[in-house]
Amino acid sequence: MTEAPQKAPYTTDNVGIPVESDEHSLTVSPDGPILLQDHYLIEKMAQFNRERVPERVVHAKGSGAYGTFEVTNDVSQFTRADLFQPGKRTDMLARFSTVAGEQGSPDTWRDPRGFALKFYTEHGNYDLVGNNTPVFFVRDPIKFQDFIRSQKRRPDNGLRDNDMQWDFWTLSPESAHQVTWLMGDRGIPKNYRHMNGYSSHTYMWINGAGERFWVKYHFKTDQGIEFMTQQEADDMAGCDTDFHRRDLFESIQRGEAPTWSLKVQVMPFEDAADYRFNPFDLTKVWPHADYPLIDVGRMTLDKNPEDYFVHIEQAGFEPSNLVPGIGPSPDKMLLGRLFSYPDAHRYRIGPNYTQLPPNRPRSQVNSYAKDGPMRYEPSNTARPYAPNSYGGPAATFTSAAAAAGQRFGAVAGWESAGEMVREAYKLHREDDDWGQAGTQVRQVLDDAARERLVGNVSGHLAQNVSKPVLERALQYWRNIDKDVGDKIAAKVGGG
Ligand code: HEM
Repeated sequence: MTEAPQKAPYTTDNVGIPVESDEHSLTVSPDGPILLQDHYLIEKMAQFNRERVPERVVHAKGSGAYGTFEVTNDVSQFTRADLFQPGKRTDMLARFSTVAGEQGSPDTWRDPRGFALKFYTEHGNYDLVGNNTPVFFVRDPIKFQDFIRSQKRRPDNGLRDNDMQWDFWTLSPESAHQVTWLMGDRGIPKNYRHMNGYSSHTYMWINGAGERFWVKYHFKTDQGIEFMTQQEADDMAGCDTDFHRRDLFESIQRGEAPTWSLKVQVMPFEDAADYRFNPFDLTKVWPHADYPLIDVGRMTLDKNPEDYFVHIEQAGFEPSNLVPGIGPSPDKMLLGRLFSYPDAHRYRIGPNYTQLPPNRPRSQVNSYAKDGPMRYEPSNTARPYAPNSYGGPAATFTSAAAAAGQRFGAVAGWESAGEMVREAYKLHREDDDWGQAGTQVRQVLDDAARERLVGNVSGHLAQNVSKPVLERALQYWRNIDKDVGDKIAAKVGGG
């Protein structure tokens, strides 16, 4: 779109003082030395040197937009969370991303896609920080850093390395289900509008009567799922690295606001103990035949950020932002993530990041926090400590408040006791690393999608994967599905 010519305003420095020239530094005679008193020149250079904040250590390349979430079905029997009450509309922000690539990397690299949402609810910000896949590569947060390092660049040569990726995956068989998603069509969505989003984790919902449920979220794209083949994605990477960012921005600019329908699977609290799969294991789905999808509402993204850096680069999503009516589950990955994100934001954006436009709650903030770099909102109490006898905020989550039936109820939790250990989850009846990946290959993919999977995996394995790792990778795929494994082996010429 061409921009209409406007009457130009006069240039000022950063505090509004008119500047003398946009083109010439202050010098002694036209050919003479530059003067230190040229405050405007120095301000320009110094500001420029400080334009960057560190990029996100993962999910660095992304795009986002504002919108609304509206409830279309009554799920109040499962949760008291205000954003899910009948008839409710809540403003929100979404950010989509690739995982391993840096800020300038191509949008069409094969990778899971981040699907991060921030809802500005009456009880503070609710963040749901998911992916376009319902499962993940590992199930313990102590393996996340190793997993990510195996996907990013090597310290010695600065290159990404397929050998490193398959080395990690084949030594971590719990990755099989997610790798099956990644190497299939969902690994390269056509654009951000044509992909689903998932909570991936199980969360807790609590209703007005204090009853607890386990829940998984599915945001189904109303545009329909579409993908790129490896060849299409490679071609696109060569001509438009920002294809997905451009598509989201331009479609909203054209007035074609993308929408997603939110559906949830709800498991009664007591079912978790002996469900056939561990319901908190992030490498597993709950088959829909066991827990069907229930409609909740619709998310519409219709407002582009007016400034990408302010609204998207400085957005800080954090799975620990859980509002009354919603809690975590015993998923170890989720519990690890609750620490990690706010810690990342304090480093990346600064300790007062919650005061920035995308992160600022639209509800009242009665926090006792004060001071720190770049704080610009005054404290809301002159006595920054609790308890105080001068009318300062008082928490409602005390056991006394819960016993008195106060509105925010009790802590979202579950019973836990036992020895401290470093052990894997206890296995449920049908838990293993290959089963759901095999079901995905045989029952979810059709013949053409299976063929593309074989092509994608063999193409990937053909690039710089050493013999021992290749042999393990072929066994990995045969463990998922013998036939698919044999076909991959035939293509890469392995044993
Ligand atoms: C971003 C850590 C697992 C989805 C990030 C960031 C960190 C991180 C440090 C960068 C945050 C920032 O600088 O703004 C972790 C850890 C994990 C984990 C420690 C496991 C223990 C997951 C999982 C999902 C996920 C399982 C999806 C289900 C995302 C998304 C973003 C992100 C979508 C980008 C958020 C945005 O758009 O700003 N993660 N992550 N992560 N992570 Fe994770």
